[in-house]
Amino acid sequence: MRKIAIAMAKGGVGKTTTAVNLAHGLASSGYRVLLVDCDTQGQASKFLGVTPDYGLYEFITERDKNGGYVSRNDAIYRSRENLWLLAGGMRLVELKNWLGEQPRECRQTVLGTKLVPKKGSLDYLIFDCAPGWDVLSVNILMAATEVLCPVALQGPSLDGLKTFFQYLQSAQKLNQELRLKYVLPTMFDRRTRQSHEILQQLQKYFSRQLCPPIHYNVRLSEAPVHGQTIFEYKQRATGARDYSNLARRIINDGGLQKNNAGFF
Ligand SMILES: Nc1ncnc2c1ncn2[C@@H]1O[C@H](COP(=O)(O)OP(=O)(O)OP(=O)(O)O)[C@@H](O)[C@H]1O
Ligand SMILES: [Mg+2]
Repeated sequence: MRKIAIAMAKGGVGKTTTAVNLAHGLASSGYRVLLVDCDTQGQASKFLGVTPDYGLYEFITERDKNGGYVSRNDAIYRSRENLWLLAGGMRLVELKNWLGEQPRECRQTVLGTKLVPKKGSLDYLIFDCAPGWDVLSVNILMAATEVLCPVALQGPSLDGLKTFFQYLQSAQKLNQELRLKYVLPTMFDRRTRQSHEILQQLQKYFSRQLCPPIHYNVRLSEAPVHGQTIFEYKQRATGARDYSNLARRIINDGGLQKNNAGFF
């Protein structure tokens, strides 16, 4: 099983768009994928057009809002064929408080310790990280082994990149398996000089990790309004082609056998 965190401290760079469409691209190729929404905005559910009763809070604490028992399997929502969701949302505020109250020595590793599916039950764990940096972000980077960083080819996107990579390095000291595996340029507009300039900078620093860019494509911003992934909304859109290529690249890097067992 591969564990990929879609992470970047900067907001609005295409993390959720990437997490949801990549997850669906992998699932459509026959891999079993669990998408973990680690954001209080709960956008992954909205992007998929689903309203799960439970999510990551219940999965970790095994409690519902009235203190009743919730099994970890019940916290996982089947949103599409081969695509399951651990929903985020406002209850993650409570989860962060709960994490803050855990003993210091295990506070950062709770997620990684709990999120260990049965061997053969899942092929990919995809974490949709929140912007910023907090106790939950650290938990994700302790649980993941690969990081995919979306960088928007628009605006002051390189600001904050250095700080984010310093965070990553500090996480790598605690999780030696963690690798910055992919840098994904997003919102590429070939008509603007800015897009090309930022892309050139990324090529200079991340030639090994750099993926082909995701074009700016208005269909990608329309799809979530309909609760659909780009593959459902407009299969022939540029955005669908770009995310399909990304999924293929990630699959080709992995050499995974497809799995088919119960989770926990
Ligand atoms: N390639 C693209 N072309 C056009 N619009 C895009 C593209 N990628 C993302 N968007 C739109 O940009 C906005 C921000 O994208 P998204 O929510 O994926 O970013 P994010 O990094 O998850 O944001 P946050 O940090 O708030 O979680 C959304 O409205 C999304 O639909
Ligand atoms: Mg997001």
